[in-house]
Amino acid sequence: MKIGIPIETRAHETRVSATPETTRKLVEQGHHVLVQSGAGINASFVNDAYVAGGAEIVDAAGAFGAELVLKVQSPTEAELPLLKRGAVLVGMLDPFNAENALKLAAAGVTAFALEAAPRTTRAQSLDVLSSQANIAGYKAVLLAATLYPRFMPMLMTAAGTVKAARVLILGAGVAGLQAIATAKRLGAVIEASDVRPAVKEQIESLGAKFLDVPYETDEEREAAQGVGGYARPMPPSWLQRQSALVHERAKQADVVISTALIPGRAAPTLISVDTVQAMKPGSVLVDLAAGRGADYEGQRGGNCPLTEADKVVVKHGVTIVGYTNLASMVPADASSLYARNLLDFLKLIVTKEGALNIDLADDIVAATLLARDGEVARKA
Ligand code: NAI
Repeated sequence: MKIGIPIETRAHETRVSATPETTRKLVEQGHHVLVQSGAGINASFVNDAYVAGGAEIVDAAGAFGAELVLKVQSPTEAELPLLKRGAVLVGMLDPFNAENALKLAAAGVTAFALEAAPRTTRAQSLDVLSSQANIAGYKAVLLAATLYPRFMPMLMTAAGTVKAARVLILGAGVAGLQAIATAKRLGAVIEASDVRPAVKEQIESLGAKFLDVPYETDEEREAAQGVGGYARPMPPSWLQRQSALVHERAKQADVVISTALIPGRAAPTLISVDTVQAMKPGSVLVDLAAGRGADYEGQRGGNCPLTEADKVVVKHGVTIVGYTNLASMVPADASSLYARNLLDFLKLIVTKEGALNIDLADDIVAATLLARDGEVARKA
């Protein structure tokens, strides 16, 4: 089968959907891999490396015109007409974006959005949210360390002692846990909070302190269990108590990293404007929910209303980092892991003989199918 690997053209996107390593594996399986010239360059993979892996270098029309097209992000308006009707498209296609799903359906492609895969053991090797969030959590700490005007570790020097930085992590899913582990390696003192009680042990096992907001009603307890491993919106009573605790802890913190998301909804507001005003001058907030939070003064914030998507701003003396694509800041490894996720997904829809076989009895295939035969296949 012809498999196309186009250049990613969306802003801030540096990743690529295949590496020379995964290209070689696809070629060994009998496929013809068509890589758009320069597709891997931002991730440090040059054309020659793909050619050594058995790929052919083509132009955009060649890559988009393949029977199977592998993407990182959804194609742009300009790219959609390059896809063949009936082709299969696999990528991070933004499954909760109903308008985009309609466009993909109208383009006549069979589209799979990998973010919609269930969080099950069988789906782990193709879990793109995990592979990329892990990188974002790591990079968030490094960005904070760079922008923070002090050291992260405690240091005893001839010129005096430097205190360890206090890091507060809100949301301890994949990104939050990696942020804890990374901040720990840098010598910070860490506290972390999440709605899901299951994460308490994980937070503690990484050497951080769990910030507990006890449940007071059955409604709170039930909401905290989440659904499918994900968080659900918590009742206002619990959010108010959480907000008061976050306010107190953020006042003491040097770095805050917030990662709280709820699939298909706006990210919760965890760090209010009041809290930012109360934070120490020079402290840093890295908001991984940037651009996905509630509307504030005409734009979408993150876990903090003052966050501005894709910008670093200083407000009330606090540096607020709102980059929306941190995985793209580690493009080589982000692409390597993502490309392997794709390879694993393809095992579910391509037979050993190299033919397409879309089996909707497979829960991962059914969950990720976004569009087929001109119709949207999934409720946004
Ligand atoms: P996510 O990116 O959707 O959300 C990040 C974190 O924010 C979550 O831990 C969530 O509970 C938390 N959060 C939401 N509202 C909050 C609030 N008001 N205050 C504080 N925290 C809040 O989550 P992610 O990282 O994608 O993980 C979701 C789940 O999937 C986790 O339970 C994780 O362990 C599980 N998982 C399972 C896998 C598997 O078995 N294949 C693979 C990866 C993750």
